[in-house]
Amino acid sequence: MELRIDRQALVPVVQQIVDALVCWLHCNEVAPGARLPPVRQIARINLLSQSCVVEACERLVVKGVLESRQGAGFVVATPTLAAQVRQDDLCFQGAEPKSGQLCELQLGCGGLPESWRETDDLIYAIRQVSRTDMTGLFNYSTPLGLPALREQILKRLKPLEIDVEDSRIMTTAGASQGLDLIVRTLFKPGDYAVVESPGYPLLFDLLRLHGISLLEVPRTPHGPDVAVLEQLLQKHRPRGLFINSFHHNPTGGSLVPVVAQRVLQLAKKHGVLLIEDDVYADLHSGTGVRLAALDDSVIYVGSYSKTLSSSLRVGFVVASAEVIARLAEVKMISSMGASRFCEAVLACLLGNGAYRKLLKRQRQRLSSDRQAALQLLEDAEWEVFGKPAAGLFIWARSRWLEGAEVRAQAQRHGVALSSATAFSPLGDPCDWLRINVACACDKRARAFFQATAPNRPQSF
Ligand SMILES: Cc1ncc(COP(=O)(O)O)c(C=O)c1O
Repeated sequence: MELRIDRQALVPVVQQIVDALVCWLHCNEVAPGARLPPVRQIARINLLSQSCVVEACERLVVKGVLESRQGAGFVVATPTLAAQVRQDDLCFQGAEPKSGQLCELQLGCGGLPESWRETDDLIYAIRQVSRTDMTGLFNYSTPLGLPALREQILKRLKPLEIDVEDSRIMTTAGASQGLDLIVRTLFKPGDYAVVESPGYPLLFDLLRLHGISLLEVPRTPHGPDVAVLEQLLQKHRPRGLFINSFHHNPTGGSLVPVVAQRVLQLAKKHGVLLIEDDVYADLHSGTGVRLAALDDSVIYVGSYSKTLSSSLRVGFVVASAEVIARLAEVKMISSMGASRFCEAVLACLLGNGAYRKLLKRQRQRLSSDRQAALQLLEDAEWEVFGKPAAGLFIWARSRWLEGAEVRAQAQRHGVALSSATAFSPLGDPCDWLRINVACACDKRARAFFQATAPNRPQSF
């Protein structure tokens, strides 16, 4: 079994072994119960230490891919309920609903894959807070969130020209809680809200949950289509407009200044609340014009889920002091505040520079993987929406194959695609796919794209 480990790569060796083993199991269609070659043999053939191979196998045991059997070494596990639950988690993120296969590559997933997540600094910060901050371990946070954290976040927003005082920021349990509080507090059932199409599926669900009717504005590579937006505002007098400004989910595009200015003019003219969702902001160092930098009335939502950890659940909202006070009241009524412990951990990572260094590594890696992914798509002659220059996503479709045929090829290559309907506010099907740059260079994705190219080799 040749694993092709690259010792110069930024990905740790153990993680490369994990990925390569998963790929090998897939490509060889290894059945549940089959034995993996002995660790000693895998290590010898690939010039690896046995301890690295064992660690990789043990990680796969935790993931439910392998089982460790006395006297038999590692064997391929039977799909479990836990694995099914993991698949269901991904569906939540706009991934293709269960295909029934284990360890598929989630080419359309909404965050960084596990192999990109870094644990050392996070573990250090967790220990640090546990050792030194008893209140962080046991008490509620304050209504607006830990002052030390808010100060750090405000510092990070300054390069984006969002320069506001302390009373205008509040922490939340991820951007999700921020959006939820905004909708609960500032909208009422029967209101209309404008959302981008394609756009973020859980926002559509959240608005529907609160009895709000959706109006869709097409998302162009440069932001919402302002001509359609103007008509919607004139005709329906909606209460609010939600824009995922930078590195948009799912198209990867970013708002350009001229569109930002026009959106703002229209929102002001029609008295519409403007909510800027910028959860992917940190994935790129470029500044770019934020709506919240142009006008104080914009409500800005951010998060640390996409870079540091979705599990810490730390996000924030920036708005006028009056709006923040109202949101904070609802936040306390509905949740007694955010997690003080998680806030303290994040404040530690922002304060000691570890977060800044993490971003540098992630951005570098994303940038080279994006180039490679765009090249793969070009070689396979796919149509790419707006060729994103940053962020996590590319929105693309095959020029040559029907949607069903693309999905069949994906399944053959162990690749799970994004949902055909989730990104449409009304659930309309489309053949565009969200491609996660961080997954696109995996061997399974490469083989899949090649198989969709015209005059592709007949491998099946
Ligand atoms: C556009 C957008 N907004 C908000 C969220 C929610 O982020 P969080 O995990 O911080 O709640 C996501 C998550 O995928 C997203 O894509």
